[in-house]
Amino acid sequence: MEESNEPLCVGIDLGTSRSSISASNGERHVIDSYVGWPLDMVARKIVKKSILIGREALDNRSMLDLRRPLERGIMKEGSEKDQEAVQEILKHLLNLAGIKQKGKNKGKVRAVVGVPAEAFRVSRQNLRNTMEGIADSVMLVSEPFAVAYGLEALLHALVIDIGAGTADFCVMQGRYPTEDDQRTLPAAGDSIDEQLEKLVREHHPEAQVSIHMIRQWKERWSFVGEPKDRVVVNAPIKGKASDLDITNEMRAACESILPPLCETLTDLLSKVEPDFQDKVRNNVILAGGTSLINGLSDAIQKTLAELGGGRVTVVKDPVFAGCDGGLAIARDASSADWEKLSL
Ligand SMILES: Nc1ncnc2c1ncn2[C@@H]1O[C@H](COP(=O)(O)OP(=O)(O)OP(=O)(O)O)[C@@H](O)[C@H]1O
Ligand SMILES: [Mg+2]
Repeated sequence: MEESNEPLCVGIDLGTSRSSISASNGERHVIDSYVGWPLDMVARKIVKKSILIGREALDNRSMLDLRRPLERGIMKEGSEKDQEAVQEILKHLLNLAGIKQKGKNKGKVRAVVGVPAEAFRVSRQNLRNTMEGIADSVMLVSEPFAVAYGLEALLHALVIDIGAGTADFCVMQGRYPTEDDQRTLPAAGDSIDEQLEKLVREHHPEAQVSIHMIRQWKERWSFVGEPKDRVVVNAPIKGKASDLDITNEMRAACESILPPLCETLTDLLSKVEPDFQDKVRNNVILAGGTSLINGLSDAIQKTLAELGGGRVTVVKDPVFAGCDGGLAIARDASSADWEKLSL
């Protein structure tokens, strides 16, 4: 293929549990945000690789020093291994999108990276160092802002991106959002998993469960509000496969994120100019994997009803909404908007 001098634009959503890329060459990919190094020579002989990334790392976890380097949405400070793991995730995403990082066919890459609002503040420099050598120009934006931009929900809208590590809020008022327009809470998928694991262990102490089983059950049967069916899962008890009814535990764990979410939503709405609050209430958009909980948008809409009514919708494509938005920003940004990483 003929090389053009046009820089290649990419949008990357760097997530605690999944990371995705959307590139101007039409490529789109998602991976699990796991990186693992073989623990010893036996493991190296079996896996036949010096590093494993994504689902492959997760599936071979017993043989690996397994990292989820973006746990809680913040790149862990001071851990070189975690920083290296984030770099591996980024390189892997670019590889999947067919983007050369070395050699004579290497073109210029402009990357917009969506990160949780908190990481935005805490690890900005850290992340920028990590991007060095990977992209030529980089822009860090908050995840919900990337989602809003991609949906062109730029005026009188409120996006809540509920992922694994964090729930990120952003009010769009027709301009670049400031810190006051954004919030980050730890009430998201991982906190539900922890809660569900705790409740299942409390109520079914004899059952053997792992956090991975818990997460799979949640992704299959999550709900808030009145249950439509009983949630019955299977787990070993003293080595024997057994059925467990975890309906109440599932509901309680999923509902545990509602009070903090609704409190922050109400608080952010109250800061919008009074003449526009009604418009924003009617344009609340949920994104991120945890927005797939059954009944979640109705439950949040109930809170809005108490404030005078409103409408909550869930994005069509929660996996790619963030990186597609990042790509849209990358395409629209003028040269002055880009911060040069390296020349
Ligand atoms: N059907 C479902 N019901 C409930 N939760 C789900 C469902 N599907 C996925 N999830 C959860 O969504 C989360 C992953 O969502 P997402 O990919 O948006 O997160 P992330 O971007 O990796 O995290 P963050 O944005 O916090 O860094 C996980 O906690 C996962 O268990
Ligand atoms: Mg995310």
